[in-house]
Amino acid sequence: MTRTSGLIGGWTDNVAEHRGGGSAQCVEFLRWALPHLRLRWSGFRKVRRQVWRRVRRRAAALGLGDLFAYRAYLERHREEWAALDVLTHITISSFYRDRAVFDFLQREVLPSLAMRALMGGRTSFEVWSAACASGEEPYTLSIMWRLALRTRYPNPPLHVLATDVEPAALVRAREACYAPGSVRQLPDSWRSLAFDERAGQLCLRPSLRRCVEIAQHDVRTAVIGGPYDLVLCRNPVFTYFEESLQREVLARFAGGNATWGCAGARPPRVHTGGRAHSQSVAVSPDVYRRE
Ligand SMILES: C[S@@+](CC[C@H](N)C(=O)[O-])C[C@H]1O[C@@H](n2cnc3c(N)ncnc32)[C@H](O)[C@@H]1O
Repeated sequence: MTRTSGLIGGWTDNVAEHRGGGSAQCVEFLRWALPHLRLRWSGFRKVRRQVWRRVRRRAAALGLGDLFAYRAYLERHREEWAALDVLTHITISSFYRDRAVFDFLQREVLPSLAMRALMGGRTSFEVWSAACASGEEPYTLSIMWRLALRTRYPNPPLHVLATDVEPAALVRAREACYAPGSVRQLPDSWRSLAFDERAGQLCLRPSLRRCVEIAQHDVRTAVIGGPYDLVLCRNPVFTYFEESLQREVLARFAGGNATWGCAGARPPRVHTGGRAHSQSVAVSPDVYRRE
């Protein structure tokens, strides 16, 4: 590694740089390391401080005094890349995040899926929340379904598979208790019907958890379950993954047969076996339908 001038070993202690998350060391390190993990720097620009803090802690735990030593360590120990990969998981989420997306789901997508599943004689309609963080996204869907749609579409019932790669996030998802700030964006009436207050936290009522099944899964591996009517993959894949990895994941989602999908950014076009079978049409910001 070529040392950037002014960074002569040791972690930079330029407070102003750290406050801005703009440490030259941080940027240089992430620009070098992320492509090794098939992740892209542009996705991490805004959250780099969080990743950087973890990297520093990790290097300190290994007894490495500076970034250069950690980089050399990565070059010598292949297994350390898996540890670094874990440090890149950004689990920020909240209920009803991206209101326009959830409003569109409520107005257009969920009713049409419910009708299609009913007409097809199906016993459930299936949603996969493919990077569910601590459950905020799948539980938002469950609340919306129960409180705004179920009386009009009593059958078939909604089933949501909620997966994430991060075990700590899944523990929180199973507990389903949240700081008030996490549920702030939910409509007031939903908030009071959906949660019980316990020791300063808001805990989701069991009746709203029941349709959500939680499991650990890495979207870079084979799809589990399916077929799905709707895949929610808001934020990790199309924000953090490099484009070739986005295409691989999208091709697997297409294999999972979803008709609708939600992403935090426009997914790339995918051609598999000579067929552009998973091209997506944007029907609303961040909501796509397979052609
Ligand atoms: C920023 S959160 C987004 C949560 C939610 N989808 C939303 O939009 O609010 C990104 C989530 O993706 C998860 N994640 C990152 N890489 C993943 C992977 N390879 N497989 C599954 N989940 C992953 C992280 O653990 C994190 O919980």
